[in-house]
Amino acid sequence: MGKNLLKLSDLSTDEIVSIIDRAEMFCQGTDIPNFSDKIACNMFFEPSTRTQYSFNVAELRLGMRVVSFNPGASSLNKNESIYDTVKTFDSFGPDAIVIRHTQNEYYNELLGHINAALLNGGDGTGNHPTQSLLDLMTIKQEFGSFKGLKCVIAGDISHSRVAHTNYEVMRRLGMEVVTAGPDEFLEKTLDREDFDRAVETSDIVMMLRVQHERHAETMNMTVEQYHKAYGLTVEREKRMKDRAIIMHPAPVNRDVELADCLMECPRSRIFKQMSNGVFIRMAALERAVK
Ligand code: CP
Repeated sequence: MGKNLLKLSDLSTDEIVSIIDRAEMFCQGTDIPNFSDKIACNMFFEPSTRTQYSFNVAELRLGMRVVSFNPGASSLNKNESIYDTVKTFDSFGPDAIVIRHTQNEYYNELLGHINAALLNGGDGTGNHPTQSLLDLMTIKQEFGSFKGLKCVIAGDISHSRVAHTNYEVMRRLGMEVVTAGPDEFLEKTLDREDFDRAVETSDIVMMLRVQHERHAETMNMTVEQYHKAYGLTVEREKRMKDRAIIMHPAPVNRDVELADCLMECPRSRIFKQMSNGVFIRMAALERAVK
């Protein structure tokens, strides 16, 4: 049985650094294994562009054969449960199953019942381990190490599995992490700071998407008001530290949390994050199936 990757808090910092180092080797085109005898199933019960298709590309780069689950054309529509659906795929004998689902910790009911290695492509508002790993890889490429760096994670914190995963792992790696945004989006247990002060003092300004689909009620302000109060505007970008970078897990609501023209500005590492996602997922798959 391979190694699952469900949440980063299960991994030591040494394991985290070794996955990032391996991804960096793949990024340089070095020592890429051939897993042409392995099969991966990608089971995305919730929409995804980056995670789903970069896993797919990672699997192809490793020579794996890939089966992609289509929830709309499956027996989910006959009320089959996630447990029975994943158990069915596992009975086909794949080596790895990548899952995204809206339910927090959906994987708990599967543990001990699945032979394939499970890789979490995101669970509800809980965890997004490969996103955090690719974020860390991007930060390491930029600054060489983590200790002493300051990151502000800004926006819709309470609905964000990226915020929850990054807050824990970045602090464990010696970074200062603060959150910023409207009160109704923040969490009492996480350190917070005034957004303007955080923008001026952080090495990494990580903006988050306003997750309209997870809000029971519509936002208490217009998108223009949100952008002015909590978005990374052109004016705020000018006040960032000289070497500071902009990150965002994407998809981005342009001109809501981030000014349209900043998406591809010299400080932005948003598309670099996406490129690194392929190499991180290659390293996660290697760890899962080797
Ligand atoms: N960042 C991220 O998880 O994007 P997708 O939802 O498109 O996979």
